[in-house]
Amino acid sequence: MIKGIDHIAIAVKSIDKEVEKYRDILGFKFLGIEVVEEQKVKVAFFDIGRISIELIEPISEDSPVSIFLKKKGEGIHHIAYEVDDIKSQIEEFEKKDIKVLNMEPERGSRNTLVSFIHPRSFSGVLIELIQK
Ligand code: CO
Repeated sequence: MIKGIDHIAIAVKSIDKEVEKYRDILGFKFLGIEVVEEQKVKVAFFDIGRISIELIEPISEDSPVSIFLKKKGEGIHHIAYEVDDIKSQIEEFEKKDIKVLNMEPERGSRNTLVSFIHPRSFSGVLIELIQK
């Protein structure tokens, strides 16, 4: 079952350049930067109440985020929905013909488990399922 939105992720070319804006102009509480080798990205998190904003920057040329930036430029990359039980959610999606990109949940930032759903399945929006 989906509990709510955990975060909205924005792909950026340089986190270092963007952090100041989100922290000082928008006034969001900066929670820190983390490199997630498994996802080939560096992420910065900001707390803005019930949900967070995640900035993501690729750390390699073959990162999916590099490909995204080349194709679309900076912008909203995914919406992360929080679930209680990621494996049962994936199974349920499978039954309903939703295209799950990684059937086996992977390690995300902040010690979470994540799986991604193909944008084709939900109106062109990449969905991340996240279990804390
Ligand atoms: Co995310």
